[in-house]
Amino acid sequence: MNNKELITELKENRIPDKEDLKQLLTSLTKEDEEFLYETARKVREDIYGKDVYVRGLIEFTNYCRNDCTYCGIRASNKNALRYRLTREEIMECAALGHELGFRTFVMQGGEDMHFTDEYMCEIISGIKEAFPDSAVTLSVGERDRETYQRYFDAGADRFLLRHETVTPEHYSFLHNGKMSIETRLRCLNDLKSIGFQVGCGMMIGSPGQTVDNLVSDLIFISEFRPHMVGMGPFIPHNETPFKNEPAGSLEDTLHLLSIVRLMLPEVLLPATTALGTLVPTGRELGILAGANVVMPNLSPVSVRKKYMLYDGKISTGEEAAECLEALSKRIDSTGYKIAMVRGDHSSLKK
Ligand code: 5AD
Repeated sequence: MNNKELITELKENRIPDKEDLKQLLTSLTKEDEEFLYETARKVREDIYGKDVYVRGLIEFTNYCRNDCTYCGIRASNKNALRYRLTREEIMECAALGHELGFRTFVMQGGEDMHFTDEYMCEIISGIKEAFPDSAVTLSVGERDRETYQRYFDAGADRFLLRHETVTPEHYSFLHNGKMSIETRLRCLNDLKSIGFQVGCGMMIGSPGQTVDNLVSDLIFISEFRPHMVGMGPFIPHNETPFKNEPAGSLEDTLHLLSIVRLMLPEVLLPATTALGTLVPTGRELGILAGANVVMPNLSPVSVRKKYMLYDGKISTGEEAAECLEALSKRIDSTGYKIAMVRGDHSSLKK
């Protein structure tokens, strides 16, 4: 089959086999590429129209017990300036965001045990009580099932936990030999069965990643059927062992966004900050490849530079929540438009 036929197969909901996926990831011509993006846009428009959902990102702690080899806030980075927001500060971020029109708040942080189950639940229920029309998304890493259940019972709606790579050796390589894909998948399955809208995902072009690894990730995604998929290019951080590794490519990231859109037509797919960091128009290009979510930064300006997952992470330009108007103009330029709504997965719409 040629690439256009493969793209059409995907659109018609047939998952190509491994060899076909590999072909798609390695041999797209410029013409195929345009066809891929166009097909992905059609599929997303059939479901979500022209709407682009926005999420206010609150990066509430950069303390982390893990030592992920790629990440700037890994535990062994002694030069990271650590901070954690108080409950009051988090509430202020949410209040500001709500005022600006945000109806989803994403609480993202390192795995920081200072935030006990009880404290986290107070924060979650505090946001839900103050803003009952808004969704709360958590992105706080691995916990046991009981803890996830408590977060859910406190009112959290969604959970982002990138699987990073399903290939065990690659997973181990990316996580300093100290974490396992089994645990990560256990967490993802727990989250889903508890009732969260769940997001997985991976970096594109991470060190050691092969095309076969990406094919396995795609097959995993098509089987797990997450509600959201977070994918952005790997970007090196100068205080990590991967500091001299090359960044992932723009084209690969865009191809993967489109392919995931075709595999899971209803998926919530962010054009990530990493994509906007790699190239200035990255997020617009992501939207044109089938993404339908952007996540502006709502963290207090004083801490933004400290949440440095990778070098050059943009944080005070037009991706910032207070610059919503500028972001909105950028999105308009793609022919899509920002929608200030909760933006749930289309399977949950009443
Ligand atoms: N480059 C790109 N993305 C990164 N992340 C962490 N470090 C990097 C990096 N160096 C991503 C991980 C994580 C998410 C919060 O940020 O995939 O899941």
